[in-house]
Amino acid sequence: MDPLTQRPRRLRRDGIREIVSETTLSPSDLIAPVFVDATTDERAPIPSMPGHERVPVAAAVDRAEEVLDTGVETIILFGIPESKDADGSRAWAEDGVVQRAVRDITRETDATVITDVCMCEYTDHGHCGILEANARESPELTVENDATLDRLARIAVSHAEAGAHMVAPSSMTDGMVGAIREALDETGFESVPIMSYAAKYESAFYGPFRDAADGAPSFGDRRHYQMDPANAREVTREVAPDVEQGADMLMVKPALPYLDIVSAVRENFDQPVAAYNVSGEYAMLHAAAEQGWLDLDAVAYESLLSIKRAGADLILTYFAESIADQLAE
Ligand code: PBG
Ligand code: ZN
Repeated sequence: MDPLTQRPRRLRRDGIREIVSETTLSPSDLIAPVFVDATTDERAPIPSMPGHERVPVAAAVDRAEEVLDTGVETIILFGIPESKDADGSRAWAEDGVVQRAVRDITRETDATVITDVCMCEYTDHGHCGILEANARESPELTVENDATLDRLARIAVSHAEAGAHMVAPSSMTDGMVGAIREALDETGFESVPIMSYAAKYESAFYGPFRDAADGAPSFGDRRHYQMDPANAREVTREVAPDVEQGADMLMVKPALPYLDIVSAVRENFDQPVAAYNVSGEYAMLHAAAEQGWLDLDAVAYESLLSIKRAGADLILTYFAESIADQLAE
């Protein structure tokens, strides 16, 4: 008798391996980030994110249609405003860059539109909220948590008024989900869901995005509000309040260096889990592929498959369009 009764290789033959595959990737799992720029009339490539551009408001519909053509149905919008101030007031302007783009895209296309709700692209200091007094002088200070809440609520309502299908607060302000839920409910938007950037780490992998969206802090960093990369147990304490406050979906960010966190959030909560495969994760694969060191399509596919295998239902990724094209082949 064969002493090897267990031969796992039996299931790896073509024709069999497909039917025992545990994880699938489809265009409907993907959310494509789109950058809309009020400071320009022309589409401009983002050097550190090959294949991505900042597009003027007038090209927002075209950009959304390009995404839809690949089979990806959902986009998340980021805006670069025409001007910035200490309060980030262009973030909730009715004629703000995101508000205009949302109106156009939802009127002209079938895209599902999510908006990023934060202040860093709109404040002249680049932080995700209202500054504490003397923040510039003291490395111990940055943003005032509670004073930021009503701004976030106003931003979310302005996005919903423009027609956003979902809002995604990313500022890591304690209480942000509750403040936004209450404001949406009071203004008749009780059916607009909230995808919370629930576990967002203070990561160096956001570098290319901060160039793309012009949202780098002008002093200090975000360590007082984003999570410490050293911490995993803390994630339950961080995410549970979002769930209590009404978060409909939970996001983990970044994705690849934090797959343990994706898996922990999947295990501990019932809400759909999204993971954000961030700009630095995208840029590093492109850079290596440009050197001829990695096969871009293969590593992109494997990365996204790993994120799903770890427990994500959805992936926000700059690879959305190219993977959807690849899946269609
Ligand atoms: C804004 C925001 C950031 C990203 C998404 N929303 C940047 C940051 O927190 O510095 C990062 C996305 C990426 O790197 O792809 N709060
Ligand atoms: Zn921010």
